[in-house]
Amino acid sequence: MCGIVGYIGYREAYPIVIKGLKRLEYRGYDSAGVMLYDGENLKLCKTKGKVSDLEAKAVKEITTSGSIGIGHTRWATHGVPNDVNSHPHLSNSGNLAIIHNGIIENYAPLKEELIKRGYVFHSDTDSEVLVNLIEDIQIKEKLKLGKAIQVALNQVVGAYAIAVFDRNNPEEIVAARLGSPLAIGVGEGEYFIASDASPFIEYTSNAIYLEDGEIANIRLHKPMKIRKIKDDTLVDPYIQELQMNLEQIEKGGYDHFMLKEIYEQPNVIKDTYRGRLHSNEGIIQMAGVEDHLEKFLHADRIIIVACGTSWHAGLVAEYVFEEFTRIPVEVEYASEFRYRNPIISSKDVVIAISQSGETADTMAAIKLAKEHGAFVFGVCNVVGSSISRESHAGAYTHAGPEIGVASTKAFTTQITVLTMIALRLAKAKGTLSNSDFHMYLQELEIIPEKVKEALETAVTTKKIATTFKDAHNCLYLGRGYNFPVALEGALKLKEISYIHAEGYPAAEMKHGPIALIDEQMPVIVIAPKQGHYDKIVSNIQEIKSRSGRIIAVVTKGDTQVRELADYVIEVPETSDALSPLITTIPLQLLSYYIAVFRGCNVDQPRNLAKSVTVE
Ligand code: F6R
Repeated sequence: MCGIVGYIGYREAYPIVIKGLKRLEYRGYDSAGVMLYDGENLKLCKTKGKVSDLEAKAVKEITTSGSIGIGHTRWATHGVPNDVNSHPHLSNSGNLAIIHNGIIENYAPLKEELIKRGYVFHSDTDSEVLVNLIEDIQIKEKLKLGKAIQVALNQVVGAYAIAVFDRNNPEEIVAARLGSPLAIGVGEGEYFIASDASPFIEYTSNAIYLEDGEIANIRLHKPMKIRKIKDDTLVDPYIQELQMNLEQIEKGGYDHFMLKEIYEQPNVIKDTYRGRLHSNEGIIQMAGVEDHLEKFLHADRIIIVACGTSWHAGLVAEYVFEEFTRIPVEVEYASEFRYRNPIISSKDVVIAISQSGETADTMAAIKLAKEHGAFVFGVCNVVGSSISRESHAGAYTHAGPEIGVASTKAFTTQITVLTMIALRLAKAKGTLSNSDFHMYLQELEIIPEKVKEALETAVTTKKIATTFKDAHNCLYLGRGYNFPVALEGALKLKEISYIHAEGYPAAEMKHGPIALIDEQMPVIVIAPKQGHYDKIVSNIQEIKSRSGRIIAVVTKGDTQVRELADYVIEVPETSDALSPLITTIPLQLLSYYIAVFRGCNVDQPRNLAKSVTVE
């Protein structure tokens, strides 16, 4: 979704803002803009397209320099992506400039009122309404910028992260948030504002993450002031030291972030269990779980809420939790859960899974669960993210920054965390035999090596990708633990290559989808030795008899499926419950290569955003 960058200090602002916008490109956007204050005037440049297009345009339009600037990448919500709708937006006087991430839901009546008061609008955006509302309040009530913003924000309904600059008070940028993330980098005599810390990590590792409902007056030569928007109470700024480093957010020799992140999986899975899984001692130790063990053990039910790929990790977890712990599990799309008046009680444990920790629907589902007294446990990747803070407890995945829009390493590290939780509970409940418990610990410990081996399928998947790159449709089939992997494989393909793909439990074919099979239809079947092997062999035979083209992911040494399939991809053997960590690897690679061969923008697929901060 939209990305925000701001700088106020002593350096040239423009290169910092532009580089920052490039770092935020992964969030997904369709237009970009920048505002530079040159000591006298506001210089504005905006364009539909990429940050590189903005740079090309800015060379001609921004010829002066300055040490205060704001920039924005826009993911269109109100109004098509074009130059005019791009941010920053100026107020009617031309004194105020705003960048905004989020949606102002009541913008229409506010706009109507402002038009009656003589305001003129150039764009279709809700953001232009907000900046003029601020200006109107500033003039009417003779307020300084911060106060006027506060009054305005108390009138709006919706979600926002904003940064506003006032030419009449050029030593300050005011930032505020509700529902959309906003980080402030604190340097010596300089400040950075951004949707996440990546734009300023090379300048400072000190950051303040604004909480929902807070507003910050970021001032040169004066201490920063943070207040609650609602009641004006002062907040003590909490400065965090960031763990992230520059290397983590660069491509490191890979053509795309997605490929880099696929190859990072052996290491990040290890990082995720390091210090938590002690196979020799037969111990799983996770502080968030230990501190609330009783809640889990006495839970009537576990409800998992998530979206997209994280929801698929939740589906894998459903199989794992039910098998290991015998606790009933429901997996819900956060967006459906929050709107369907669900039955939740204080004996439910809700697990919210989110890579970004900012997904609006997942956040809303958590809030709803808390209102009903449920215990909420967050599984997030981004440290300090909104969902991690809103949860009662949690466990981080240690995947490091995931920049490619298509989620890969987040998925496998989420499964790693969830499996460890299930194992810990199983041990406490005695629902797994001692030997099985130890077997799983040992298996999980060597999973990174097997993932490494599975990555060697790149050569085969690349060849298969050349054959199927022009397919119009694709089916993915799996059973049991590998049914969610089929869903995830299909999602990966459609989001980055724009090929229509569907995932099904293999046995469901007969209930409809088999009608689609003909000699044009590639069918990717996940058929490891463990699990329901014989059943899936029968399913493959049914497809074969209807001339479908079969690509099978099989266990090394398999002979039976090999005879039936047109192509096989061999992966190392592991237990059924852990197999999604392995079988998903060639599917990620297959989507990646197909997208590359089709000339698609792998890291920033069209219409998609990395962190979905609007509903
Ligand atoms: C798919 C993908 C999305 C996200 C979904 C949830 O590759 O990345 O489907 O999984 O938007 O995002 P998080 O996990 O950040 O809540």
